Amino acid sequence: MEVAETIESVRRIVKNARNEGRKIGLVPTMGALHIGHISLIEAAVKDCDFVIVSIFVNPTQFGPGEDFEKYPRPLDADLKICKKAGVDVVFAPSPEQMYPAENITWVNVEKLTEPLCGKSRPGHFRGVTTVCTKLFNIVTPDTAYFGQKDAQQAIVIKRMVVDLNMPLEIVICPTVREPNGLAVSSRNQYLTARQKKDAANIYKSLQTCRGMIDAGTTEAHQIIAEMRKILQQIPSGQIEYVSIVDAETLESVDKIAGKILAAVAVKVGPARLIDNILVDTGK
Ligand code: PAF
Repeated sequence: MEVAETIESVRRIVKNARNEGRKIGLVPTMGALHIGHISLIEAAVKDCDFVIVSIFVNPTQFGPGEDFEKYPRPLDADLKICKKAGVDVVFAPSPEQMYPAENITWVNVEKLTEPLCGKSRPGHFRGVTTVCTKLFNIVTPDTAYFGQKDAQQAIVIKRMVVDLNMPLEIVICPTVREPNGLAVSSRNQYLTARQKKDAANIYKSLQTCRGMIDAGTTEAHQIIAEMRKILQQIPSGQIEYVSIVDAETLESVDKIAGKILAAVAVKVGPARLIDNILVDTGK
């Protein structure tokens, strides 16, 4: 496995792989790799002949007062995980490589970035879409892999690729969960054992949502009220949003029909946790 720290070196490595006719897969990450990331890498290794994992804690997607400084950066452990998972190259650039000067060019997906996490994290998705565009331009992958846990990010990136005719396929992989249902996330590291246990209520609330839909409830507000009751049982929890939206437009729905996304953001102690489920009612 090679480790490239500069744009020039990763471009050279990719050029050689492409000349050999290999299908190139990219797994963009911010490091602190866990089993969720490993599942993305495994999907890439299965589909592609040459897999690149980028590790870059992207400053432009963090707002003031967010956890950019304290975001975990265990590079040595991450490299070991990548090697074991069969990664060909880790691209681990410095902030100076990625943003050598003040950034004044941005990629912005409208509308889809406004609700849900976009409300409380202004500028977050602009940072994500800009850095992903930069990574796609640098690595020129055939396919890039993202997790369903960050559902809004996945929808925004898919739309960006379509709208800007970017020549790659976006693959969204299922959310990986702890045995108690908690979605695996690098930010789970901020939780105490007690908070981790309590945070299982996030997935419980989503399961309740699915159960009510299966049982025929069609009023979104009734489902949201039940979900809130479950989330309120998290002692150190502060609910940011509990939403049921159209899975394509991300607009709130009153009646459950078609494909919906139930999405939740809750601050548990120091960690802002998000989770979601997709439900296709088939109607
Ligand atoms: O999901 C993440 O880890 C980040 O938002 C991403 C896609 C690597 C962009 O920095």
